[in-house]
Amino acid sequence: MPSSPARLVVLVSGSGTNLQALLDACADPAYGARVVAVGADRDDIEGLARAERHGVPTFVTKVGQFTSREHWDRALSDRVAAFEPDLVVLAGFMKLVGEDFLARFGGRTVNTHPALSPSFPGMHGPADALAYGVKVTGATLFVVDAGVDTGAIVAQTAVPVEDDDDVESLHERIKAAERAMLVDTVGRMAREGFVVDGRRVRLGG
Ligand code: GRF
Repeated sequence: MPSSPARLVVLVSGSGTNLQALLDACADPAYGARVVAVGADRDDIEGLARAERHGVPTFVTKVGQFTSREHWDRALSDRVAAFEPDLVVLAGFMKLVGEDFLARFGGRTVNTHPALSPSFPGMHGPADALAYGVKVTGATLFVVDAGVDTGAIVAQTAVPVEDDDDVESLHERIKAAERAMLVDTVGRMAREGFVVDGRRVRLGG
């Protein structure tokens, strides 16, 4: 990581509990990273409010403000670039980033997905795992590529499915494990660096 502490830009679309976990971790200088900005694709979400309460600059770049997805992607990339991130963290960001974004931040953008990749990619990881009847699911942190939840895996955490789980209870348990994994792994990426070698990601330079 070129900066110390590493500069994180976090993108959110919702409640922002993963963002909150990062904000809390960054309060400790030993963590090795700080959130320099939080971006979103929509207004009036708790994720943005959390950033504001921490005095972190925010921005909103909505798809509907642009004539095409490509223009949105370029505008989003420009907003992110202005904060000179070492690492971009998609934390419950419900949009796929495009070519321009990947050209600028590919290899240093991570996303967290509430399933054990390569199982159950897409928007409904917990529901799909429950419907399939798996006994173990979890969360995956990966380096974003052009696919849907297909990037090289940085970390995974397993969560047992209970007999009486519904989608909400399962997703809440996954999210607790997901936050711990995110904080632990992003901190290590910031402090130790990381190498992406094809599909293999190694923490520590
Ligand atoms: C997380 O489970 C994330 O993986 C999924 O949506 C959830 C976001 O939660 N895409 P939060 O906004 O961080 O609370």
